Amino acid sequence: MSRTPIIAANWKMNIGPAEAKEFIAALKNENVCDICVDKVIVPPFVTIPAVMDALNGCQCIGVGAQDVSDRDNGAFTGEISTTMLNELGCKYVVLGHSERRQYHGETNAYINKKIKKALSAGIIPIYCIGETLEQREGGQLESVLKSQVVEGLADLTPEQVAGIVIAYEPVWAIGTGKTASAADAQAAHAYIRSVLAETVGAEAADKVRLQYGGSVKPANAAELMSQPDIDGALVGGAALKADSFAAIIKAAK
Ligand code: PGA
Repeated sequence: MSRTPIIAANWKMNIGPAEAKEFIAALKNENVCDICVDKVIVPPFVTIPAVMDALNGCQCIGVGAQDVSDRDNGAFTGEISTTMLNELGCKYVVLGHSERRQYHGETNAYINKKIKKALSAGIIPIYCIGETLEQREGGQLESVLKSQVVEGLADLTPEQVAGIVIAYEPVWAIGTGKTASAADAQAAHAYIRSVLAETVGAEAADKVRLQYGGSVKPANAAELMSQPDIDGALVGGAALKADSFAAIIKAAK
């Protein structure tokens, strides 16, 4: 099964509207458009319109949001709805990032509601999972990943699961400069795909794109993405500069 690689830039709480315009102009100069890799920028909410303006209709780069509400609308201060993301033209939404789990108490069950809401609005979830160092060292890697997959994707049809993106991001590798070895990352990805095969069937499991995330940089991207079950990357720090993000896109092709 050939899966189109997908590289996403998770800007987190960085890059306001003015800086985003400069980033997009610099990225366009890197000639990434013709590379057969799905490219996604995930800015803070307030930066999304500036990114859309700077892309100026260029379809080669998709835009995503960093979160979305599980509700339709109403008295939910600080929340953003799928309708609003659709109005801006967002194609993707990152859900269940470890920073949302850690600082905002998001659980698999809550993230599951958001995934369903995104899917019902035609927005592709990039569902983040991954273990802490304590869990890995305590021998819980597989049980943690399994519950994140099973509970986070509960009640979805095989067709729905086939269309989402799952980002495996070991928490100990995020923003720390420590990357999982290519072999460890591949083993975790293969395990995730095996859990998907058990829950939604081999065909859907084969179609799901699995990204690796956690200190991906131009220097390690090619090796990670040459692994058979790694179909791309979710990149934080190294995606804050256009040249480094472009180098990672080029490494994925
Ligand atoms: P990092 O972040 O590349 O800075 O480690 C990745 C992520 O959290 O998505």
